[in-house]
Amino acid sequence: MSEQNKMEKIISLCKRRGFVFPSSEIYNGFAAIYDFGPYGVELANNIKRSWWKAMVQLNDDIVGLDSSIFMNPKIWEASGHVFGFSDPLTECKNCHLRLRVDHLLTELNIQADEKMSIDEIDKLFTDNKKKIKCPNCGKNNFTNVKKFNLLVKSNLGNFTEDWNKKPAYLRGETCQGIHVNYKNIINTARVKIPFGIAQIGKAFRNEITARQFIFRTREFEQMEMQYFIHPNDEVEVYEQWREKRWQYYLGLGIKKENLKWHKHENLVFYAKEAYDIEYNFPFGFGEIEGIHARGDYDLSQHTKYSGVDLSYVNLVTKEKFMPHIVETSAGVGRTFLAVLVEAYIEENVGEETRVVLKFNKDLAPIKIAVFPLLKNRPELVKKAKEIYDNLKINYMCEFDDNGNIGKRYRRQDEIGTLYCVTVDFDSLEDKKVTIRDRDTMGQERVKIKELDEYFRKKL
Ligand code: GAP
Repeated sequence: MSEQNKMEKIISLCKRRGFVFPSSEIYNGFAAIYDFGPYGVELANNIKRSWWKAMVQLNDDIVGLDSSIFMNPKIWEASGHVFGFSDPLTECKNCHLRLRVDHLLTELNIQADEKMSIDEIDKLFTDNKKKIKCPNCGKNNFTNVKKFNLLVKSNLGNFTEDWNKKPAYLRGETCQGIHVNYKNIINTARVKIPFGIAQIGKAFRNEITARQFIFRTREFEQMEMQYFIHPNDEVEVYEQWREKRWQYYLGLGIKKENLKWHKHENLVFYAKEAYDIEYNFPFGFGEIEGIHARGDYDLSQHTKYSGVDLSYVNLVTKEKFMPHIVETSAGVGRTFLAVLVEAYIEENVGEETRVVLKFNKDLAPIKIAVFPLLKNRPELVKKAKEIYDNLKINYMCEFDDNGNIGKRYRRQDEIGTLYCVTVDFDSLEDKKVTIRDRDTMGQERVKIKELDEYFRKKL
């Protein structure tokens, strides 16, 4: 199976089985926005739960937060996003497709430095333009490069005609909500430096090009943690978080050979040091998480713009300093896609090809499916319902009585269900059911009254 083919198959499975739908599909969609269907929302929730556990539950010095999407617009000036958060844009003069110039140059193996001025990028683009064709119409006729700000504007609370000049922004990254609540948390949560604040939430970016399914979207969810430290500890803490976050992905069941580090040589405006963890997607390695040493940039900027001193006083040593921040920033959608690609397997079973999503047990959207052998036999349906009603108290389960058992196994394999429990005629006599394991396809008979214990051990 070619990699392009694999991506197409995954996209098709996502639609067919209800993991991901294009947004507003009955209105011809809405570019670079997607919805999670019934199994998609389960998978996304399991990813978020596992991240929350790894960051908040298992670390005594990290607390959670859920800040709002809209914030005082001055925050985005202080953070540097109003002036510095932009991508270089060109437009095809023939078909009017808008394109990211740095992406076009990368395809020619030319790297546009993030610190380059727009004029420098324009020159680099002009020098190489002849080699570039519009991916849509194939023509070679582009506008000059201009900066395109990625913040998404709204007219929230502004009832004037020219709201556009003083917009409220939808947040471009969730961590600014953490920075501006840092003092509230110091004052209320009995935390002392070093400590962290974790948050999961939506972020919005006016991405110029929508590419690679849910990899780059205009509305997406981030899982961000900001760790506040003494400046002297920055290097050591940064390395610790790099290691922890690498291990996290291995724990999700991602193979080491499908992960790699990418060190940023050209840093974005807030970062002192930045590494990405990249995953080997069918379209190539791409970032799933950024780990950034942000220095004292954010707290200093917010101190300057708000007039509130955000420095920290060590009550023992009386030392006053501006904390530095080490950030871990992951995307729910990109982790979702990485986990999906990793889990997608085609196996030859006899004459047939079995498509199975081998998610790890914590991430699988459905843990157990319960089947009556036949739909039209009330005694089987009743028993299977009884078992299902009992198991669903502790596990995400599904009841399925549609089609023959082989078809039901195929469907459950395609959504990654760990175990299938079948109630047949023998079950009514011997009080046992058949349990089929997703990965081995092995089957065993287990007493109904021992099912709770069986699944407690397995799950
Ligand atoms: N606070 C730092 C920050 O936002 P980033 O590298 O711009 O850093 C962090 O984004 C993560 O958010 C990325 O690694 C990715 O997983 C996710 N992300 C960023 N832009 C995205 C987009 N347009 N679509 C989907 N996920 C995105």
